[in-house]
Amino acid sequence: MADIEIEIDGNIINAKAGEMLIAVTDREGISVPRFCYHKKLSIAANCRMCLVDVEGAPKPQPACSTPISDGMKIHTQNDKAKASQKAVMEFLLINHPLDCPICDQGGECELQDVAMDHGSDVSRFTEGKRIVADSDIGALIQTDMTRCIHCTRCVRFGAEVAGIMEMGGTGRGEDMKIEPFLAEGIQSELSGNMIDVCPVGALTSKPFRYELRSWQMNAVSNVARHDLVGSNIYTQTYKGRVKRIVAKDNESVNETWISDRDRFSYEGLSHENRLLVPKIKVEGAWQEVEWNVALDFAVRGLEKNVRQADQLGALSSNTATLEEFYLLQKILRGTGSENIDHRLNVKDIDNTISLESNIKLAGLEGVDHALVIGSNLRLEQPMINHRLRKASLSGASIDVINAMAFDFNYRINSENIIAPNQTALTLASILKSVLKSAHTEVPEYLGNAEVTEIATQLANQLTDSDNSVIILGEHVINNPQALSISNLISEIAQKTNSTILNVSATANSMAAGLAHFVPGKGGLDVNAMLAANLNAYILLDIYPQYDFHHSVQAIEALSNDDTFVISLNSFKDDVVSEYSDVLLPIASFYETSGSHVNVEGKVQSFTAAVNAPSDAKPAWKVLKVLADLLELPGFHYADSMQVTSEIMHKSYKQHVHDENIDITVKRGVNVIWQKSPYAVDVLSRHAVSLQDTKIGQINSASMNKATAKKLEITQGDNYLGVPVSISESVANSCVFVNANHAIRGQS
Ligand code: SF4
Ligand code: FES
Repeated sequence: MADIEIEIDGNIINAKAGEMLIAVTDREGISVPRFCYHKKLSIAANCRMCLVDVEGAPKPQPACSTPISDGMKIHTQNDKAKASQKAVMEFLLINHPLDCPICDQGGECELQDVAMDHGSDVSRFTEGKRIVADSDIGALIQTDMTRCIHCTRCVRFGAEVAGIMEMGGTGRGEDMKIEPFLAEGIQSELSGNMIDVCPVGALTSKPFRYELRSWQMNAVSNVARHDLVGSNIYTQTYKGRVKRIVAKDNESVNETWISDRDRFSYEGLSHENRLLVPKIKVEGAWQEVEWNVALDFAVRGLEKNVRQADQLGALSSNTATLEEFYLLQKILRGTGSENIDHRLNVKDIDNTISLESNIKLAGLEGVDHALVIGSNLRLEQPMINHRLRKASLSGASIDVINAMAFDFNYRINSENIIAPNQTALTLASILKSVLKSAHTEVPEYLGNAEVTEIATQLANQLTDSDNSVIILGEHVINNPQALSISNLISEIAQKTNSTILNVSATANSMAAGLAHFVPGKGGLDVNAMLAANLNAYILLDIYPQYDFHHSVQAIEALSNDDTFVISLNSFKDDVVSEYSDVLLPIASFYETSGSHVNVEGKVQSFTAAVNAPSDAKPAWKVLKVLADLLELPGFHYADSMQVTSEIMHKSYKQHVHDENIDITVKRGVNVIWQKSPYAVDVLSRHAVSLQDTKIGQINSASMNKATAKKLEITQGDNYLGVPVSISESVANSCVFVNANHAIRGQS
């Protein structure tokens, strides 16, 4: 588009021909009122609030849908523009209730703000106002539809961004209503964004209802740590408590949107289950003590129980901050132990995924083809899925290889439901097809792979695309051939010039890698530690019945009478209390400073939005003091930023895996186990409203009839403590367990 000159309110402005006028005025800081326009949604031009005077046009024109052209002269403030805006405002207020004093949107309401500028203080409308009955649309969004001004932002958000049209307009004229189409209400994993886009108080946050006015709260920039994106957010606080979370714009990370998990999990912070006071176990009984007593007890316990350095181990959940990972590994290495790990949910560390991503989040929306392997991407990484959906809407073709059919919110080119024990063979067939078409020598290990029609199609898609990506999800980490799958993907990506996005480990797992929170030379990984019956552990925010793959073995190993366990936890947990000797209460999300590392390696640091409740302290401070008491050198940090800067000056060699590829099909039933989307971390599990949603209640062991018969179970039985759901959408010889509660006894 060519550069042109236009005149707005007497000022000459350079712009691109064809740009919408409102985009130019926004860029230039010229205020034009609007309701239906939203920079990330399509243009509806239905509210008419943005009318401006364009010289030569017979009537005022809506700035949101008027493309500019060279020499155009626009007046946003002259009498004609102002009169039009005032008339529209009066029209919109005809049916709007005068309930600002009890409306949660008060103080951040676009209608209220625009009415102050363009409305009249006297209403000429004496007839009765329209009333619209509310419907309960779920646990997260409160409706007051009498306030709705039919801007359709929420409808367009559903159709264009969330990818499921759950809200729509029904009726005409006076009878028009915006309402959900289905009785189950709004269930999208991105639904909370409708609250943000609604310009009035028709859609507000249900958990926040009647809590506070927006101007009473402080807004602190923060980063969400529930997935691999690190969405930017504002934590809104009042009197030292997090009261609400809203999205913060960051075009390269989360654009304008956040997932419901990032928005509503803060509710867990005020759960009665928070661990608030340090405790020590003396002769089997818990005593609440001061911090110095607890830390002294911890240090003496370590001195007494750890005779050799390699008898101490450190384990952490993936929700720790970069700095917490770093300090804990530094303590262990300071004492001489290399027994350090965060990969608690991995069944066999020597046989798992080891792939580096090489595509940016924003780059994902520019791909022309994607092959998704082993992922329910929409619920695992909602914002990454959103980027891929954008690519799909721009014409990208998307193929999927999964063990179960999932509900994608974009068109899937081919959905290949393949048993986990066939995944390596399928990828081998794809690789063989790629090599054959390139007339390249086929290595011996691909000998058994038959080039099937599906493999050829999937291979051709990758080869023929200019900008393709292979996305690897969580379902593959415990595949018996995970390492082979990893190596095959690497080969396919290289031969087809595809990029890789590895989302098989989530939350802040990238930070664990950056902080070198893995065993060093001679050190034990998580499973080896548990098998070795170590004498002492330092555990960082671990809830074993959720976090470990081998949860039964983990609890047994940690409960050993001779094992001294120091647990730093943000929430109380009976199992943790049972095996621990010291319980140190730590800050949870938003209560500590630190950094998140996202899937593209971007380090985003944040400060604490509030202090941790009662005696709980940020884990990085606890670890620093523990190191001082252990008389370890190099822990003189005044704040967490000093830790961050130390980390950034180090570089660790990436683990290089062997090139082993095994494509033989192993017989037997494979279990894919995955935590439900709102059970991924301890904070989300305590967020009551999230748990009340349909996604929060996902809890099933899905298998097809043939597998159920093989396992001699039927619909409604329990498998691994989860209700069995028989569905032909699951591959043969596969059980897909999606659990929202603690699991014991995984195979
Ligand atoms: S509910 Fe809000 S966003 Fe939706 S149409 Fe009504 S005013 Fe617009
Ligand atoms: S903002 Fe332009 S018509 Fe609604």
